[in-house]
Amino acid sequence: MKKIVGRHVVGAALTVLAGFAATAHADVVGSAKAGQSKVAMCIGCHGIPDYRTAYPEVYHVPILGGQNAQYIANALHSYKKGDRHFETMHAIATSLSDQDIADIAAYYSSQTAASKNNPDK
Ligand code: HEC
Repeated sequence: MKKIVGRHVVGAALTVLAGFAATAHADVVGSAKAGQSKVAMCIGCHGIPDYRTAYPEVYHVPILGGQNAQYIANALHSYKKGDRHFETMHAIATSLSDQDIADIAAYYSSQTAASKNNPDK
């Protein structure tokens, strides 16, 4: 991991995520509730609150809240496999299990700008 964007952010993320590393499963069902506790490290970049980029400022960071769950899961699997290239996201996705990805996708897809239960607003 050299020259990655937001190295300290990712370092913290990987430390947190190490606890979630698990064997890959096929056909995993995501839980938005479980996902809620796994997105803490994503919020710094994918700032849900008012849909702005918190960091890194020079990059356009896609909005994840309200995005289709399958789309988010596909994107994360692509970063993990290296089919889609972005070093920071690759480092993060590599640390996620299939269950983590499913949970995170379920969580983000359930968010909207008007979500009453969005704890990050
Ligand atoms: C250090 C900043 C940073 C962190 C932390 C981060 N991301 Fe990202 N993410 C980005 C950037 C920048 C992109 C756009 C990269 C590109 O152009 O491919 C991106 C892209 C994505 C995409 C693709 C979205 C799309 O519309 O194509 C998904 C999904 C995603 N991130 C999920 C996550 C999740 C889930 C986490 C937490 C586990 C996370 N990211 C943490 C910066 C970050």
